[in-house]
Amino acid sequence: MSFIQRLAHQSQKNWVPIAIGSAAIATSLVYSYQTFSRSYIANDSSVTFTGDGQWIDLKLKKFEDISPDTRHFYFELPSEEQKSGLITASLLLAKYVTEKGSNVIRPYTPVSDTEQKGVIEFVIKKYPTGKFGNHIFNLKENDTVSFKGPIVKWKWTPNQFENVTLIGGGSGITPLFQILHEVTKDAADKTKVHLVYGSKTYQDVLLREQIDALAKKYPDQVKVSYFLDESSDKLKEAKVGYITREWLKENIAHPDASHQVFVCGPAPLYKAVSGEKVSPSDQGELQGALKELGFTKDNVFKF
Ligand SMILES: Cc1cc2nc3c(=O)[nH]c(=O)nc-3n(C[C@H](O)[C@H](O)[C@H](O)COP(=O)(O)OP(=O)(O)OC[C@H]3O[C@@H](n4cnc5c(N)ncnc54)[C@H](O)[C@@H]3O)c2cc1C
Ligand SMILES: *[C@@H]1O[C@H](CO)[C@@H](O)[C@H](O)[C@H]1NC(C)=O
Ligand SMILES: *[C@@H]1O[C@H](CO)[C@@H](O)[C@H](O)[C@H]1NC(C)=O
Ligand SMILES: *[C@@H]1O[C@H](CO)[C@@H](O)[C@H](O)[C@H]1NC(C)=O
Repeated sequence: MSFIQRLAHQSQKNWVPIAIGSAAIATSLVYSYQTFSRSYIANDSSVTFTGDGQWIDLKLKKFEDISPDTRHFYFELPSEEQKSGLITASLLLAKYVTEKGSNVIRPYTPVSDTEQKGVIEFVIKKYPTGKFGNHIFNLKENDTVSFKGPIVKWKWTPNQFENVTLIGGGSGITPLFQILHEVTKDAADKTKVHLVYGSKTYQDVLLREQIDALAKKYPDQVKVSYFLDESSDKLKEAKVGYITREWLKENIAHPDASHQVFVCGPAPLYKAVSGEKVSPSDQGELQGALKELGFTKDNVFKF
């Protein structure tokens, strides 16, 4: 089984620390970030999510299938004039109550522009026995989902770094896409971004249209390297197989205080590239390829 196949097979496990999904875990996640979040979050009626801990029901406006198991969801904010209240990079918690009355709570990372009014968008992958995934894929237009937050994972600051490398696998693209989008929408932000994105097949490359459009529009600023399990005519430029230390050594910027790496994906990707997180609030030690290449814990953020 190749690395990317293993990624795909084990991708569910990536999220297990939170996917265990009890309210208790989600709550501790909220607490660990709330203090941090508050100081960055706007506090007025022009935004929906203020970090005040309230669950807010959003109506499902529409959805599109973007891969065999992934859907792009568009939810209406309570007012057409409101923005979500999120900054890059943040997430919301989503909840539903089962028939037996237990809460299923999961974190999701919006992919829409933080300035967009009236609508917030998510890209969500469904696992065969996944609780929240199956719930949300069964919803119809005008059904609602409760959300709360935001939880700020990393506050993006323009031009804080000269180079940024985003290394992702599968649905781990979502926070990396937030950063790519945030950098490129700001003409004053000169950060160079290199996205290194591994997927099982070309169909599993999420947000490809958006990513390719940004790479085309900003050729001097954005570089994209795709990795696939097997070669495909539909994505000829993709490298086939592993994201290896050797490849990273030759192709990403060198370790430097002005070069930040972000990692998000299934557990085997973290293991190979950066070492796993210990918990949402503990990044753990830097391990794997990046450590071997001379990066330090300060240069690498694990979403
Ligand atoms: C910070 C963060 C941001 C995220 N952003 C996104 C996003 O933007 N889009 C997105 O799609 N997802 C995102 N996720 C993942 C998301 O939160 C859920 O974990 C995911 O959708 C699965 O939830 P579920 O309820 O559908 O599946 P679950 O019911 O939690 O199960 C998922 C799968 O894992 C299997 N499984 C469950 N427990 C175990 C176990 N102990 N060992 C092995 N396998 C197990 C199940 O059989 C199932 O197939 C994010 C996660 C984090 C932590
Ligand atoms: C934010 O809103 C709360 C009530 O919703 C209010 O008590 C608080 O003073 C506000 N803070 C700021 C900085 O506006
Ligand atoms: C959803 O609501 C809109 C506006 O209220 C309505 O036009 C539309 O028909 C509804 N869709 C469904 C499937 O009920
Ligand atoms: C940023 O990346 C470019 C191109 O890879 C390289 O020439 C430059 O030295 C890098 N700068 C830093 C600080 O890493």
